[in-house]
Amino acid sequence: MSENASHQIPTIVTLRQLTPADIEAVHTLLSDWTVVRYMLLPHCETLEQSQKCLDELISETPGGAWTSVVRAIEALDSAPLVGLCGIAILHGSEQGEIWYLVRPDQWGRGIAQLAAGQLLRIGFSELNLHRMYATCLPENPASSRVLEKIGMRKEGYQAKNLKIHGVWHDSYLYAILRAEWEAGSGRERQPSQPQ
Ligand SMILES: CC(C)(COP(=O)(O)OP(=O)(O)OC[C@H]1O[C@@H](n2cnc3c(N)ncnc32)[C@H](O)[C@@H]1OP(=O)(O)O)[C@@H](O)C(=O)NCCC(=O)NCCS
Repeated sequence: MSENASHQIPTIVTLRQLTPADIEAVHTLLSDWTVVRYMLLPHCETLEQSQKCLDELISETPGGAWTSVVRAIEALDSAPLVGLCGIAILHGSEQGEIWYLVRPDQWGRGIAQLAAGQLLRIGFSELNLHRMYATCLPENPASSRVLEKIGMRKEGYQAKNLKIHGVWHDSYLYAILRAEWEAGSGRERQPSQPQ
């Protein structure tokens, strides 16, 4: 458990559509280097940069071959928006890549675990995907832990496959099949209680 909020009990997490009114909260996240340093999302130093990114996130259309689900993460006992998450789906692949980020003052409360668990439910139950996967940098063990907690398997190590903020990085590949999720190995698990 991280030092942040480590003695608070797990909270109730809901996902909702992003709206233009989320700009301040989104800028707080995207302007924080500790939040975006391991992600393909841009580091937005100005409100205008965050506005452009928010517009793209709301449109859920990252590129011609891809569709995207993007959700704001809300925690009932906290600020209106504590994080962002989503699923990117290559057309015709029936597979989705999940991503998530959480405000640093809320780390270690199980929020990412619950949000990522809900992404699996959306992907498998609503979008009828066959497989869901995620990549994670070796230097980001908190994210590895989130993926393990939602039942994903570590499938491999990919050399210099992610160009993040201009630098090529190695990454771990995690995945779960629909059949595995349906069998219960990846169902939304409750965060473990604080020690
Ligand atoms: C990764 C991230 C989303 C995790 O969010 P979170 O809400 O704190 O996640 P959870 O509380 O559900 O779980 C975090 C787990 O990582 C563990 N953890 C935290 N720091 C760790 C570290 N340095 N080494 C090992 N485990 C660590 C926590 O103890 C917890 O595990 P536990 O429940 O077994 O105690 C958050 O750190 C973040 O937003 N980081 C920046 C964005 C990012 O990296 N996103 C992922 C891109 S792949």
